[in-house]
Amino acid sequence: MSQLPRKPTQKTEAGAYDLELVREIAASMKGLDGPLIPILHALNDRFGYVDDTAIPVVANVLNLSRAEVHGVVSFYHDFRHEPAKRHVLKICRAEACQSMGAEKLFAEVAAALGDSAQVTLEPVYCLGNCALSPSAMIDGKLYGRVSKEKALAEVRK
Ligand code: FES
Repeated sequence: MSQLPRKPTQKTEAGAYDLELVREIAASMKGLDGPLIPILHALNDRFGYVDDTAIPVVANVLNLSRAEVHGVVSFYHDFRHEPAKRHVLKICRAEACQSMGAEKLFAEVAAALGDSAQVTLEPVYCLGNCALSPSAMIDGKLYGRVSKEKALAEVRK
């Protein structure tokens, strides 16, 4: 959720977060009820991930400790900790998908991908596609009855 208009990622140098923009975003949203999570979502949307360098800035704006902000960033699976790679493969690990082998699927796909430079593999907890478990989302597109072969074929196109 972001209350700011979407813009292309703004960085001051290769790989660096624009911390002034982080401060602007945080300051513009600090008046919300429970502003921390909306701010983190806004950063995740804007930059594609929540960089560690943003944590002290957000903590400062909200008058929270770094540990409090870091704890929230770490707890929620929604927040990416590094930029996404070319493909984003999210495999559902919630209950219905688990009952259809999602844990094994996740482990097998992770092993097959290894330290892929092309694919970001992430867990997700229910994609609303439980009837077609196990489910996955690949580059924003929903898939059902996913096998290891199907998932790998999609990210290797
Ligand atoms: S539990 Fe996986 S889509 Fe709902």
